[in-house]
Amino acid sequence: MCGIVGYIGHREAYPIVLKGLKRLEYRGYDSAGIALYDGEEIKLSKTKGKVADLETRLENEIATKGTVGIGHTRWATHGVPNDVNSHPHYSNSGNLVIIHNGIIENYEPLRQELTNRGYTFTSETDTEVLVNLIEDVKTKEKVKLGKAVQIALNQTVGAYAIAVFDRNKPDEIVVARLGSPLAIGVGENEYFVASDASPFIEYTNNAIYLEDGEMAIIRRKKGVKVRKIKDDKQVDPYVQELKMNLEQIEKGGYDHFMLKEIYEQPNAISDTYRGRMRVSDGIIKMAGIDDHIEKFTNARRILIIACGTSWHAGLVGEYIFEDLARIPVEVEYASEFRYRNPVIYQDDVVIAISQSGETADTMAAIKLAKEKGAFVFGICNVVGSSISRETHAGAYTHAGPEIGVASTKAFTTQITVLTLIALQLAKKKGVISTPDFHAHLQELERIPEKVAKALESNEHIKEVADIYKEASNCLYLGRGFNFPVALEGALKLKEISYIHAEGYPAAEMKHGPIALIDEQMPVIVIATKKGHYDKVVSNIQEIKSRKGKIIGIVTEGDVTVKGLADHVIEIPETMESMTPLLTTIPLQLLSYHIAVMLNKNVDQPRNLAKSVTVE
Ligand code: G6P
Repeated sequence: MCGIVGYIGHREAYPIVLKGLKRLEYRGYDSAGIALYDGEEIKLSKTKGKVADLETRLENEIATKGTVGIGHTRWATHGVPNDVNSHPHYSNSGNLVIIHNGIIENYEPLRQELTNRGYTFTSETDTEVLVNLIEDVKTKEKVKLGKAVQIALNQTVGAYAIAVFDRNKPDEIVVARLGSPLAIGVGENEYFVASDASPFIEYTNNAIYLEDGEMAIIRRKKGVKVRKIKDDKQVDPYVQELKMNLEQIEKGGYDHFMLKEIYEQPNAISDTYRGRMRVSDGIIKMAGIDDHIEKFTNARRILIIACGTSWHAGLVGEYIFEDLARIPVEVEYASEFRYRNPVIYQDDVVIAISQSGETADTMAAIKLAKEKGAFVFGICNVVGSSISRETHAGAYTHAGPEIGVASTKAFTTQITVLTLIALQLAKKKGVISTPDFHAHLQELERIPEKVAKALESNEHIKEVADIYKEASNCLYLGRGFNFPVALEGALKLKEISYIHAEGYPAAEMKHGPIALIDEQMPVIVIATKKGHYDKVVSNIQEIKSRKGKIIGIVTEGDVTVKGLADHVIEIPETMESMTPLLTTIPLQLLSYHIAVMLNKNVDQPRNLAKSVTVE
């Protein structure tokens, strides 16, 4: 993974690059570095640790001058996180300097070849190999930097988003991408480079998203020239106007991005369905579905592929599609799917779900499904992301930027999109009655208000968090539509508080996890008054008789579970298929508060990253 930032223009590059790196820390945060050209030489500083550590280091140096600069925040792939392996990396002559997000898979033979020709390496990284390969080509072939980058990249196998500059030609930065995102911000005689638009959004709304296999030569005065890496063909860059604003990106008064994003869910969900359903007329309009409706209605089955929280949304989708649209669904981890020679029929529809739209395994699974002739539909949050471009059609979740590494609003908005699709398909297939269809639309429209109501339990949830914050294990149980929510609740707790947690279908508890239950064990049971309520109540009795501590997520006004549980957290009444949109909320808040009370880094949990662009 990793985040990259670059600037060339008339302002001081240092503050722009530094602030940009802070915004990109969600992509990795085990080391950081900056290189600036001050008119005479390149000044480079890098360190293990976070961008804040780099900032402290740089405050003690005066080397922060210059109008050209690049910076990097790292998530280690090759070589442990330490100062030496941090980016940027110099070439042997010290003339070239590079930042890189991705992996050069054939770096070992390249390194060997360069070593044989006298190159030396100070780090263990594939990136240092790449910058020296560029230098080698440049000297051997006597070509300009852009051409050298192109020739060198054609000798590599792997994935990259890179930015490189030459101290002998400090008026240009050369960038390229394959498999890792790269956006160029276009200002007035100034240009920005970044893994996403957040580092430059306050300077310009105009951006060029490089396509896979493209490179750009960015010149301070002459602007941006885009070419294909493979055949050198010139490409007319498409400059798009971004609607995102800075306030959306920053914390907006909350202590953490995660909390802000939890609270954004009422708006995020209505942003997801806005313009897609007209409740009074009983209409759903989704171009991505409507334009390919026969693919869906004739589908032998739907395969949903995703990773992490998006996979959990996919599991909820399975229940929704089968229940409402009567289409068989299989949900697969993208990382398993891509390597297990799956049976894919030409009349399968594949739905790939990804918040970032950049997850490497999901991307590879999409490519495989396409090769086998399946129609692939994407559900992404990040507009213009790689997955949104690789799929045949798709629907954005429109949740706005999600910065907290633990995914929250992405999950509920993904379920919202899946609900809209399932309803549309149910209608087109004639398997839902008109009154039922209308009732679903009306209920979906009320969900944001009900999510807001669920958020009102925050203070109570905080008290519950305080009681259980020292637990070493937690069990999350749910049935039917809420089984995936139990998985998601457990994942949230693990990710940010490092407490071991397991999600289980409530009835499966007796086949194993029940052995773990004693008076130390908090068990969070989703027991809404729908579906298999009575069965869940029996499961609660089983836990109680083994002295487990029960936290029930119940429907407003519930008395039965209240009488049995140690604590209950209420959510408003809704239709069964929409309960996950509400039951998820208290689980997100519970994990959040426990992690805060344990003093954990909520937005940047250890070892994780927001966007996993390596397999
Ligand atoms: C990482 C993130 C998770 C996310 C998963 C899939 O592990 O930390 O929050 O659910 O990747 O990401 P995607 O962007 O494809 O939804």
